[in-house]
Amino acid sequence: MSSTVLILPGDGIGPEVMAQVRRLLDHLGGFDVREDLVGGAAYDAHGTPLTDETMAEAMAVDAVLLGAVGGPKWDTLPFADKPERGLLRLRKDMALFANLRPALVFDALAEASTLKTDLVRGLDIMIVRELTGGVYFGDPRGIEDLPNGERRGINTQVYTTHEIVRVARVAFDLARKRDSRVCSVEKANVMESGLLWREEVQALGDAEYNDVALSHMYADNCAMQLVRNPKQFDVIVTDNLFGDLLSDCAAMLTGSLGMLPSASLGAADAAGRRKALYEPVHGSAPDIAGQDKANPMACILSLSMMLRYSFDRGAEADLIEAACQDVLNAGIRTGDIVAPGMTPVGTRAMGDAVLAAMDARSGG
Ligand code: NAD
Ligand code: IPM
Ligand code: MN
Repeated sequence: MSSTVLILPGDGIGPEVMAQVRRLLDHLGGFDVREDLVGGAAYDAHGTPLTDETMAEAMAVDAVLLGAVGGPKWDTLPFADKPERGLLRLRKDMALFANLRPALVFDALAEASTLKTDLVRGLDIMIVRELTGGVYFGDPRGIEDLPNGERRGINTQVYTTHEIVRVARVAFDLARKRDSRVCSVEKANVMESGLLWREEVQALGDAEYNDVALSHMYADNCAMQLVRNPKQFDVIVTDNLFGDLLSDCAAMLTGSLGMLPSASLGAADAAGRRKALYEPVHGSAPDIAGQDKANPMACILSLSMMLRYSFDRGAEADLIEAACQDVLNAGIRTGDIVAPGMTPVGTRAMGDAVLAAMDARSGG
């Protein structure tokens, strides 16, 4: 039985980085790959950022790989038509509540970080971001006209016990395979939803995960601690909005947003399979789109997460990660991670180099 993968390159640099992933997928073989539109590209073709047909296809395949969505061309569209809605619908309708965003510093890039080298060398943090709840999806929401002529914009931060417990469980289970430490992040000092979050995570830890060291931190402090002393963290579990912010922040520890992959996972079925979408943490980078400048590594490392989490092809995931390491060690780098004195290479040349490094490692 072949493994089905849906590729959604999206907008801006999405198609550029995904083209490199496509080459790797074809090289590995054994996948039935389909490709479709999402975001602004889907809006231009069909008048919606995600058609029902594409949604149905995403539900049917074993895994989805997404590039990036959005861009200035579509920024003034009504909310329902914005490219970002396509991505949010995929996450919500596939019930991908757990977003894993690993921030891992490759040795060769310790100097590329804006932080001091010894603060980040060897860093390995896993941010688990809740992805289908919170202020992104809470009701009521909207913009309304007030009788006094003012307007009011409304979004609602809301979490239920069930939503908190299931994502916390993912964090605890991951911690058990790592350094057995979870830091739960909210603002329990200001928000009731944050207090509930803290209470539920603590209760779950007490009941089922006594072997994992659990701590709690306010989100503002966490942002500060991430740049002060990032190695204090192992697994961070947090809500949808804080997770969005903290993962971009963690990206800079690794040298560039162009290095950070992610996996978005749903609940396991009876056979242990989860619906899954893999995407880089970065966006469509309109400032460099169409110039062969984007770093494809975040997308390539998302492919390696897919191999590991959806297909039990861990050896190939290891091979890709080792190849990325080789390429960085050889000083082959896009502009975002280039060191002084190096000449940056383009997106496609990075793809070439990763493929060549994979071949070299597998003796080919
Ligand atoms: P962005 O992540 O697109 O870009 C931020 C900065 O990082 C830019 O300077 C960009 O050039 C740089 N950058 C990002 N990825 C890079 C890569 N692979 N290689 C080299 N440099 C890279 O964020 P933004 O500018 O705030 O948003 C642009 C658009 O992308 C918006 O429409 C936004 O909604 C969308 N967006 C989409 C996603 C997604 O699809 N998952 C994520 C974030 C933002
Ligand atoms: C991300 C992005 C998305 C988010 C946007 C594009 C909807 O910033 O994946 O980090 O806010 O979740
Ligand atoms: Mn983001």
